[in-house]
Amino acid sequence: MALVAERDSFDELMTCRLSAAPRRRSPCSIVIFGASGDLTARKLIPALYHLHKDKLLPDPTRILGVARREKTDESWREELFEALQTHSRTQPVDRGAWEAFAPKLAYCRGDLSDPATYRQLGARLGEASEEALRRNLLFYLAVPPSSFGLIVEQLHAAGLLHRDPPEPSWQRVVVEKPFGHDLASARKLNERLTRYIHERQILRIDHYLGKETVQNILMFRFSNAIFEELWSRGSLDHVQITVSEKQGIGNRGGYYEEAGALRDIVQNHLLQVLALVAMEPPVSLDPESIRDEKVKLLRSIRPIPPERVDEFVVRGQYFAGYVDGELSPGYRQEPRVRPDSNVETFVAMRLLIDNWRWSETPFYIRTGKRLPLSASEIRVQFRPAPNVLFAAACGGRLEPNALTLRLQPNEGISLHFNGKVPGTSMTVRPVRMHFSYNAAFGAYTPEAYERLLLDAIEGDPTLFIRRDELETAWRIVDAVREGWGDRPLTNREFYPAGAWGPAAADDLLARHGHTWRNPRPPEADK
Ligand code: BG6
Repeated sequence: MALVAERDSFDELMTCRLSAAPRRRSPCSIVIFGASGDLTARKLIPALYHLHKDKLLPDPTRILGVARREKTDESWREELFEALQTHSRTQPVDRGAWEAFAPKLAYCRGDLSDPATYRQLGARLGEASEEALRRNLLFYLAVPPSSFGLIVEQLHAAGLLHRDPPEPSWQRVVVEKPFGHDLASARKLNERLTRYIHERQILRIDHYLGKETVQNILMFRFSNAIFEELWSRGSLDHVQITVSEKQGIGNRGGYYEEAGALRDIVQNHLLQVLALVAMEPPVSLDPESIRDEKVKLLRSIRPIPPERVDEFVVRGQYFAGYVDGELSPGYRQEPRVRPDSNVETFVAMRLLIDNWRWSETPFYIRTGKRLPLSASEIRVQFRPAPNVLFAAACGGRLEPNALTLRLQPNEGISLHFNGKVPGTSMTVRPVRMHFSYNAAFGAYTPEAYERLLLDAIEGDPTLFIRRDELETAWRIVDAVREGWGDRPLTNREFYPAGAWGPAAADDLLARHGHTWRNPRPPEADK
């Protein structure tokens, strides 16, 4: 890790640039399976386009798309250009940059189960004049998980993917979530993949880890001495982590019916954020040290006994209601959802971490679709002031201190404390000190996929999920699934679209003297 300290000439602030040296960004070919899918058009190509525009892609780079639909290189490029107009984070799309980027894109039609597809892919990869483009290969599996094993097997059979490619070649496989649907299937899939490649060649993506604000959790904790001193059961009362979404499930009913909120968000994004908030300081910033600490933390989460699931977990499903004044259908009325579905669109959990730092400090996590607003936030709630002086005079109505890390949108960090309202009376009121990313750094926020694709090209696994992390996370959510079994949802588990989940979620906290603190709506920050 090379460290560069730079003094900012204007405000005398010391900036420390940490860059892993040497950055190995060798020319490569990126092969995207699922080239005509949504993820490719909405996320992957816009991310690659921006990396190209910012001169971060290795030179040269080739991008080959594989899918079943009939297309030519030209028609695929046209389609992607059109999608970019909608999905690019910078607008308008820079024509010049696109014209330099588009020739890198080539399309390869074929069925994933047909060996001829892989022969054809091999031939196209072989067309490259530069050797590095033929030997450094990043395979991106933007396809349903049922095809992961098949693709890796076929790539291996076609001689395109090896466990130990001869140095200095490299070959890596990026897999999208969900990686399995429970611990047993995840293990099976791992075993299938590692028959052909090493664990270190598998990059399991969780796009939350590519978000700037999520990466900032570790930097915030371990580059500021004042907070880390307080970061334990001695000073903290509890922690709340919310990932709320205003949107419903859109046209993803088929997928969501199999996943539900527990597999879609809790197993990955929420547990990953929790691990970063609660883990011990790693011994160094190298990828394995960080991942070791995350696994240790996940392993310290007290197992939820399936027969007592309701003491720790609340699930919910939305019915028709108003979001932003507009009537939204209920989950059971969404396309490709069974009319009697019991799939959860909301989950709230009370987790206890059995280690020295956190013993008996609850971590509440929740996520839901069709909630009043889209926001992801960590709220670290400090212990209340002792019941003397102002706290005693206020009769328990004095707000405890809190620190909010707002992950998105309106990214920022706020410290909540009490202050005297100016005037002749003694009136106390909560106020907040706020740091806003936009105000401090400008509005530039790269998409999570840009960072993750670059790390995949460089072979930096820090922000990808290791096998033991994944399996530990599955173990946690499997116990919950087992507890729910086939039990149908009860009335108490439904919530109207536009509400903060079912009433049972409030009771989960109320039983322990706590209340949910909902994220601030964007207008509150104007
Ligand atoms: C995905 C889930 O992983 O994350 C979606 O499958 C969810 O259901 C999305 O909407 C949320 O991501 P973001 O970046 O919009 O918060």
